[in-house]
Amino acid sequence: MGWRAEQTPHIAAGLLLLLLVYLPVTCHQDHQDAVHITAILGESVVFNCQVDFPEDIPVPYVLQWEKKVGETGQDIPIYIWYESYPTHSGEGYEGRVSRVAPDSPYGAASLNLTNIRESDQGWYECKVVFLNRSPNQHKNGTWFHLDVHAPPRFSITPEEIIYVNLGDAIILNCQAEGTPTPEILWYKDANPVEPSGTVGIFNDGTELRISNIRHEDIGDYTCIARNGEGQVSHTARVIIAGGAVITMPPTNQTKLEGEKVQFSCEAKALPGNVTVKWFREGAPVAEVAALETRVTIRRDGALVINPVAADDSGQYLCEVSNGIGDPQSASAYLNVEYPAKVTFTPTVQYLPFRLAGVVQCYIKANPPLQYVTWTKDKRLLEPYQTKDIVIMNNGSLLFTRVNQNHQGRYTCTPYNAQGTQGSSGPMEVLVRKPPVFTVEPEPLYQRKVGESVEMHCEAQEAEGTQRPTVVWRRRDGLPLQKSRVRALGGNITIDTLRRQDFGIYQCVASNEVATIVADTQLVIEGTQPHAPYNVSGTATEFQVTLRWQPGYAGGPDYKQDYTIWYREAGFSEWTKVPVTPSGATSVTINRLQPGTTYEFQVNSKNTIGEGMMSKAITIRTLDVGAKPKVAPTTAGPVDEKIFQNAPEGSGPKSGPPRNLTVTEVHNGFLITWQAPLERSHLVQYYTIKYRTDAQWKTLNRGQIRPEETSYLVKNLVGGRTYYFRVLANSATSYESSDEVRFSVPARVKHKAITAGVVGGILFFIVAIILSVCAVKICNKRKRRKQEKAYNMVAARLTDLRAADSTQVPFKKKSDLEKAEYRV
Ligand SMILES: *[C@@H]1O[C@H](CO)[C@@H](O)[C@H](O)[C@H]1NC(C)=O
Ligand SMILES: *[C@@H]1O[C@H](CO)[C@@H](O)[C@H](O)[C@H]1NC(C)=O
Ligand SMILES: *[C@@H]1O[C@H](CO)[C@@H](O)[C@H](O)[C@H]1NC(C)=O
Ligand SMILES: *[C@@H]1O[C@H](CO)[C@@H](O)[C@H](O)[C@H]1NC(C)=O
Ligand SMILES: *[C@@H]1O[C@H](CO)[C@@H](O)[C@H](O)[C@H]1NC(C)=O
Ligand SMILES: *[C@@H]1O[C@H](CO)[C@@H](O)[C@H](O)[C@H]1NC(C)=O
Ligand SMILES: *[C@@H]1O[C@H](CO)[C@@H](O)[C@H](O)[C@H]1NC(C)=O
Ligand SMILES: *[C@@H]1O[C@H](CO)[C@@H](O)[C@H](O)[C@H]1NC(C)=O
Repeated sequence: MGWRAEQTPHIAAGLLLLLLVYLPVTCHQDHQDAVHITAILGESVVFNCQVDFPEDIPVPYVLQWEKKVGETGQDIPIYIWYESYPTHSGEGYEGRVSRVAPDSPYGAASLNLTNIRESDQGWYECKVVFLNRSPNQHKNGTWFHLDVHAPPRFSITPEEIIYVNLGDAIILNCQAEGTPTPEILWYKDANPVEPSGTVGIFNDGTELRISNIRHEDIGDYTCIARNGEGQVSHTARVIIAGGAVITMPPTNQTKLEGEKVQFSCEAKALPGNVTVKWFREGAPVAEVAALETRVTIRRDGALVINPVAADDSGQYLCEVSNGIGDPQSASAYLNVEYPAKVTFTPTVQYLPFRLAGVVQCYIKANPPLQYVTWTKDKRLLEPYQTKDIVIMNNGSLLFTRVNQNHQGRYTCTPYNAQGTQGSSGPMEVLVRKPPVFTVEPEPLYQRKVGESVEMHCEAQEAEGTQRPTVVWRRRDGLPLQKSRVRALGGNITIDTLRRQDFGIYQCVASNEVATIVADTQLVIEGTQPHAPYNVSGTATEFQVTLRWQPGYAGGPDYKQDYTIWYREAGFSEWTKVPVTPSGATSVTINRLQPGTTYEFQVNSKNTIGEGMMSKAITIRTLDVGAKPKVAPTTAGPVDEKIFQNAPEGSGPKSGPPRNLTVTEVHNGFLITWQAPLERSHLVQYYTIKYRTDAQWKTLNRGQIRPEETSYLVKNLVGGRTYYFRVLANSATSYESSDEVRFSVPARVKHKAITAGVVGGILFFIVAIILSVCAVKICNKRKRRKQEKAYNMVAARLTDLRAADSTQVPFKKKSDLEKAEYRV
């Protein structure tokens, strides 16, 4: 309590006395005559209180204002005045309480409370105590009740811009303080928010929740906090966030060396805090040492290189992102042009006497080199007029057969569309004899696996030139295996030979004048062939034609025979097809299924045995319908026309199947036909088509082999009319029989198998047994979902003869080929 006795000893003494003589026992609830005042937060208020001297004679008095605080209702002095002593202000009231000016219309004891706070709310009492008077003569205090009102002010508001994705859920939180407690109202754009399934207002209106944001939820949301003293509002804009999109991508540019280049990369995004990164040929530009001092990325994302150098040509890529979604990128090429220049001039060059030799001119040019002029001994060389001398595309000078006259002092000057940066320095060209082999390897070394081979080679320099270095290499560029190879001078030994060591080897002797090469072949005898390689193939719907390169045959004069292994991708069993004629390196595999992926491998064998498999390749046969004709096995809508006229160019085909008939037999309906008269050898399989309405469907499953000419169909719907056709399929085409109409007698029940009512009791019993079997089969079949598409149950006549079952499980072709179905 702000009662500082040491500061105001006299008042303290006086009040001590006062407390002895005056014990206020009032309770503010009792004071119906109390004055109620409402003040606005921050403003000031005057509590009006008179000083009524006893008998109107001024006497000394103490003015004391008290406030009732806390639960106990204790009175705390907030302002004490006594004569000329310093006034006292209670804690929290310092500087805010004073007596009103003497000339004001208020009573002399009135208190001016300024800068009102919410905590000032409550009961106040004005007390005037006349000294030198008996206690009971004093006047009761006047009670005041102060109500503090405050206009609303926000304590929590949503972000001003809220980025959302459609489908998001968001909560906008708006809380306000004020007295009386403000109410919160929500508006979307200009209209009050209507709560709905996805929009709701919670927690006394302070929370607006939107779940599953849709396009129509996008907009400005305003929360208004309102009480009697006023209102405040805050608006949050809900925007669909967008990843950065490049609006101005860089474009290809061509610059002259030394110029400045600028690549734009402007992007638009929500939020718009886009970062732009630049890469040259995949590396961040900042990390390309050669660019370091010349490159800047501008604020708008543009890349500036100033000045450009010849080597700056290449791809430049900018990548933009604002952290939402994947970064976008765009790239462009910089093409830096410059006049052709000589980059390097060897001051002395040698030409090998009587061989071909080159005088080198090392050139850089963009745009490309157009021509090079050469001088010899300060005179322009006219190579076009000189036999034996050619200026090559790269500008170097080729002498097809060097002689002594070619010796001299040369310069070269390159030109392109931008001109030239000048001539090379002079090059002293000397004609010298090339090195020669003193020992050459044998043309052929023949060894067995595990043996070793030593190949000899030695070369000698001509007079006045350097000793040649001699090295060995494989002509195909494969490295020599250091662990098994020993080289001593020009001699080389390869230990524990393997099949792979087979090949052409080169002894290379070189000095400054020339490089000479001697070839030899190393043959590893007596091995199985190496794997065929470079296997490739082309597919049609039903065929794949494979080609391959033979691997090493295993020894000289060995013959290779190939076998094709193939299977449908994903299946485990391989089909093997030997390739004929022996040694052929291509073959066509027939009778594949269309639209199917197959794996192929080629294996080779020789008299010693089977070699390694080639790498597997996968090939997909063409989809039927990928070509401009409909293949025979297609189910679904089929145009009538296609059965008559197969389109031109669809490959050779047989004549039409003949004499198609449908006959009712005791266990179903037998479809029979005869093989085509013309080119019947082309038939690879038959297909039976049927229809009951406009739509043709395939009746059989699996293929009907060319040697079969009948098919048993068990379930036809009684009373319905069917149309049938038989297609004779060749490798790439087909021919159709005539259409046959067949009306099923009405007595035949749907999906039931009937035996004819002909025959005696014995036949009837047989029929019952057959029906029971068939019902069992029907039930089994019902379990098989893929069959629900069929409204007929078909079985091969051949299968029916097999006693066990009438059911033909659908088989993959590879299985079909293995199984034997013969009539
Ligand atoms: C109350 O005090 C304030 C601030 O000192 C002053 O502006 C105002 O005039 C005073 N009111 C009266 C009635 O004296
Ligand atoms: C002062 O207050 C007391 C108690 O509330 C009351 O009995 C008395 O009449 C009052 N005196 C005057 C002069 O109003
Ligand atoms: C830019 O240059 C590259 C490489 O030269 C080229 O592939 C591309 O088509 C060019 N782009 C345009 C728009 O010309
Ligand atoms: C841009 O701002 C968004 C939201 O404020 C933030 O999530 C993102 O990481 C920022 N992106 C960048 C590149 O600074
Ligand atoms: C020029 O081309 C020839 C033939 O391809 C080559 O031998 C020679 O090294 C090349 N010269 C230069 C300088 O590139
Ligand atoms: C290389 O082999 C030849 C023939 O066997 C031999 O005369 C020569 O000394 C060998 N060279 C070296 C450097 O061993
Ligand atoms: C591989 O075969 C392709 C096409 O048949 C051919 O172009 C290519 O030269 C062959 N590669 C080798 C190494 O034989
Ligand atoms: C057609 O087939 C039926 C029954 O197999 C046979 O009787 C008839 O002679 C055949 N007709 C011709 C033209 O071959």
